[in-house]
Amino acid sequence: MKNPATCIPPALSQDQLKTLVGVAALAYVQPGEIIGVGTGSTVNKFIEALASMRGEIKGAVSSSLASTERLKALGIAVFDCNEVDELAVYIDGADEIDERGYMIKGGGAALTREKIVAAQSRRFVCIADESKLVRNLGRFALPVEVIPMAARRIAQQFARLGGHAQVRLSGEQPLRTDNGQIIMDVTGLNILDPLAFESQVSQWPGVVTVGVFAHQKAQLCLLGCSAGVRTLSFADPVHSPAP
Ligand code: 5RP
Repeated sequence: MKNPATCIPPALSQDQLKTLVGVAALAYVQPGEIIGVGTGSTVNKFIEALASMRGEIKGAVSSSLASTERLKALGIAVFDCNEVDELAVYIDGADEIDERGYMIKGGGAALTREKIVAAQSRRFVCIADESKLVRNLGRFALPVEVIPMAARRIAQQFARLGGHAQVRLSGEQPLRTDNGQIIMDVTGLNILDPLAFESQVSQWPGVVTVGVFAHQKAQLCLLGCSAGVRTLSFADPVHSPAP
């Protein structure tokens, strides 16, 4: 008799799950369009897959210098945001996504440009492996892009919310974003009302971008699971007033 354990399909690695959703995202790329492209290891899988459609799309708007380089290396034209009106679709990863399509992003320090391109797009398709799906946002340290002279005061403001903010380093120096600013990673937060939280923190002087994507939420998530790709669709947000 066969050992039952040998009948169970082997679990896919996180890297394989990223490839799975990167390829699945091609179904949301409309020929003849310029598409929005995010940043990160999952998006890198999408960019690799996109090479097969390079002759069918006009090009891409990219959310980082790193993605721009990858796209150009594959012969895909990259446009500036200011050269295009609306984008049909924006495809990007996430550090966390909840069951409403709200996300934490910025693990790759590209959150500001990601939010800009997302805002310019009709539809945000998030691609992620199943480890990114959470009940409440805040387990992943929240990235916030900050003007350096405001770092100390912003850290104090997060402390009042129960958070602990630390400047992200690259070697021994503060990491600099593509925009020349710094990133603070904030732990200890439990973000129950992402819309209100994003509105509140975005107003603090010196905050360039907070890594909560609630106003620019995903409409769809392609979630890589060992059983295959699960497609999660999210309804439009119910706006709650900022405190
Ligand atoms: C970059 C991001 C990425 O989308 C996020 O960090 C997920 O990255 P990965 O696909 O490598 O897990 O927000 O700023």
